Amino acid sequence: MVTSTPRPLSQVKLDATIRLSTGESELDRVLGGGVVPGSLMLLGGEPGIGKSTLMLQAAMLISATNQRVLYVSGEESPEQVRMRAERIGVVSPNLMILPETRVPMILSALQDDEYSALVIDSVQTLDQPDVDGVPGSVSQIRESVAAITTYAKSCNLPVFLVGHITKEGSLAGPKVLEHMVDVVLQFEGDRNHAYRMLRALKNRFGTTSELGIYEMMGNGLIAVENPSEVLLGDAGDASSGSAISVSLEGVRPLLVEVQALVSTAVYGTPQRSGTGFDLRRLNMLLAVLEKRCGFKLASFDVFLNLAGGLKIVDPANDLAVVAAILSSSLDLPLDRATCFAGEVGLSGEIRPVARLDARMSEALRLGMKRMLISGHGKTPKAPQGLTLVAIKRVSQVHGVIF
Ligand code: TYD
Ligand code: MG
Repeated sequence: MVTSTPRPLSQVKLDATIRLSTGESELDRVLGGGVVPGSLMLLGGEPGIGKSTLMLQAAMLISATNQRVLYVSGEESPEQVRMRAERIGVVSPNLMILPETRVPMILSALQDDEYSALVIDSVQTLDQPDVDGVPGSVSQIRESVAAITTYAKSCNLPVFLVGHITKEGSLAGPKVLEHMVDVVLQFEGDRNHAYRMLRALKNRFGTTSELGIYEMMGNGLIAVENPSEVLLGDAGDASSGSAISVSLEGVRPLLVEVQALVSTAVYGTPQRSGTGFDLRRLNMLLAVLEKRCGFKLASFDVFLNLAGGLKIVDPANDLAVVAAILSSSLDLPLDRATCFAGEVGLSGEIRPVARLDARMSEALRLGMKRMLISGHGKTPKAPQGLTLVAIKRVSQVHGVIF
């Protein structure tokens, strides 16, 4: 009988795994510093968001470094993929294309040659002939991915799987797929805007707090080096209803323009809408404004928009949202060198937010002069050039910003 004996964890040897760079700096960063050999990465996103483009770009960059990459396309013809590649750049002879959906065929193609990476676009098209069900069904996806996983782990081949996302926003196919892979990446953004966010929802080899930002251009996806600059909009424009939030996405501080429009409701029930911002949170903030500041907005429509079409979930945006709403309803523009970072609680208190240091340096870097923060807890030391205004209650906002 084979026995298994416990051994001290401290004696387990760690091989320094050499990660493969995809050549895509943002993708590498979100992965935790490149691709781990033998790992399975699932890239999810809505149709048309740019999954195939991102995968093809990575495949082209890897193959440009003299490594062979197999791009299995079950959705598009080789001509279509070639056309996309033409827009992006130079196609290396090391980039191989295989229009195939049958898993055994894909596996035998892999055995014929030595590959450094495999892309499957998409998992929903995979077909394992000896398994019941049509491609895209739970059993098909599960069994196909299991077969590919076994092969990939046996020869340390990294695999990128493209997966579609349903209208509800979850990965189409079984939830079990997310458990089977090592990394789940999500590619998101508003299709009507050019900006796209890449983040890891799960990562066995790194944190899930890194964020990559891309812009979809005529020649593929271009990494956005300075996201705050693009999300800030036109700095010279001082119209009412716009406030700058010093937000945090994962570990990355971002300055985002929050726009509010408060107008008299034409129809019976006032409308509330939030683009990139949680509607329930908006309603909560409106209730706090009414209850704690006597600021009645019950008969007004309130529209809220985070510039750039990105969805950024950070409670620190609350304060900028409140400021933008006040600014729009009073029709008084805010100072463009003032920014905000604070969470608003139900009793109208302004709460401190995480990683204020990182936020302050980003604010300063982007030319901000004044930052409204929570007055609860210890007030940190501001970097030179930035004045901190610490407030404790939402009722104080009005007096400070106008
Ligand atoms: P695609 O990668 O096919 O999206 P997905 O695989 O997620 O469905 O590309 C989506 C859109 O991007 C498509 O409408 C065309 C556009 N696009 C550009 O704007 N520039 C480009 O260089 C490329 C390749 C695509
Ligand atoms: Mg596609």
